[in-house]
Amino acid sequence: MTTEKLDKSLQTELAALAAEGRAKAPERIITEYIPPANDSGPRYRLAGSSREYIRLNSNSYLSLSTHPALVQAADKATREFGVGPGAVRFIDGTFSYHAALEKRIAEFVGMPCAKIFNSAYTANCGLALSISSPKTHWIGDQLNHNSIIRAMRISNIPSANKGIFKHNDMEDLKRCLDEVPPHIERVVVIFDGIFSMRGDFAPIDAILKVCKPYDDKFKDGVITVVDDSHGIGAYGATGRGTSEHTGVRPDVIVGTFGKAFGVNGGFIAASDTIIEAVRQKADTYIYTNPLSVADCAAALAAIDICDSDQGLDLLDHLGTITTVFRNGLRNMALESIDGPHPVVPLMVRDTARTHDLVNFLYENGVLVVGLTFPVVPKGDETIRFQINACHTHADIDYVLGLIKVFVNKVVPQVPQNVRVTRFSSAGAWA
Ligand SMILES: Cc1ncc(COP(=O)(O)O)c(C=O)c1O
Repeated sequence: MTTEKLDKSLQTELAALAAEGRAKAPERIITEYIPPANDSGPRYRLAGSSREYIRLNSNSYLSLSTHPALVQAADKATREFGVGPGAVRFIDGTFSYHAALEKRIAEFVGMPCAKIFNSAYTANCGLALSISSPKTHWIGDQLNHNSIIRAMRISNIPSANKGIFKHNDMEDLKRCLDEVPPHIERVVVIFDGIFSMRGDFAPIDAILKVCKPYDDKFKDGVITVVDDSHGIGAYGATGRGTSEHTGVRPDVIVGTFGKAFGVNGGFIAASDTIIEAVRQKADTYIYTNPLSVADCAAALAAIDICDSDQGLDLLDHLGTITTVFRNGLRNMALESIDGPHPVVPLMVRDTARTHDLVNFLYENGVLVVGLTFPVVPKGDETIRFQINACHTHADIDYVLGLIKVFVNKVVPQVPQNVRVTRFSSAGAWA
């Protein structure tokens, strides 16, 4: 037997994806990391190109992935225990580093208990498997991350047991809560902390206020869950994330070690009982090898840095250069979405211009992500810039200078009939 027939069908499916504009571009391969020097941050080399690139598309907001303390911690743990756990957690694949990281991340986010996963993606799926029942109803923000959407799909609830509210719209959240069928025993309201394509945040305080009156209506109440993968480490006065920024904590916090902490892996933090349910019921925790001890040790070192003066300095620098970048866009009268998060979207609102600017930046040594239709609705075409603590003022000035050249010289015309959102400001392209 061969896979000839399957290959043919898959080729048709892949061609359809490409025709719809949904196919992913070929993956660029990073071949070299060039450390920061003088007033320039780190640079990267890519296979097939001799140029050096600045990354403005990394989630490593605090730039900790190359920090000597993390590298040393990973090295030490590897020398102690080796590179792999040899088995899943419940078959003696649990090492002291796993237990230590669970304790440390729970303390860091201010929750009683935590379980770590290979990723935040599998953490969301594990949470859904652990807390869902046939009488559970899930409600989510319309812009939630794919891992939450997938988690809602695999939670084995009937499709009717789902509500989606308009992005950050509290009236619409209330509508979803009002529409929960009377036989439901448990309601889960789940949302991103920081919306990764936009850099805006969930108003957790307002969400909890809307949910509270409904808690008594259901046998097991209304459980609020934030996935703060882009917030923890990078947001709030001490990097505790969107909960710190909004002053309230939901019932469950999901997060990642793979963004601001610069490592890999995910976690769920919640009550002791929820975490024991996760340990017993989350297939994506139970039946898969855990993170390596190297990952855990590096993540522990990253949390220690976040919790130190050095971490506060990194956050401070990140905040400063993010503001410089945002102000630079504003001074060119370009449209963005306001806020302090280092995800800074540039609303281009035109597919061709988005591609042109992404290519222009690439040709000049800057890596960014462009989002065009059908990934975003027509008129919402955006370039996502992600500022990292490793970026210097000179790096930011360089990128702003390129954008200025592009806006002034390459695309002088003003588009017609541009859709304006409530976040828009008068822009060169608006
Ligand atoms: C909200 C959210 N959750 C989960 C993830 C996935 O994180 P991980 O790489 O740890 O699976 C992302 C990553 O983009 C995210 O934005």
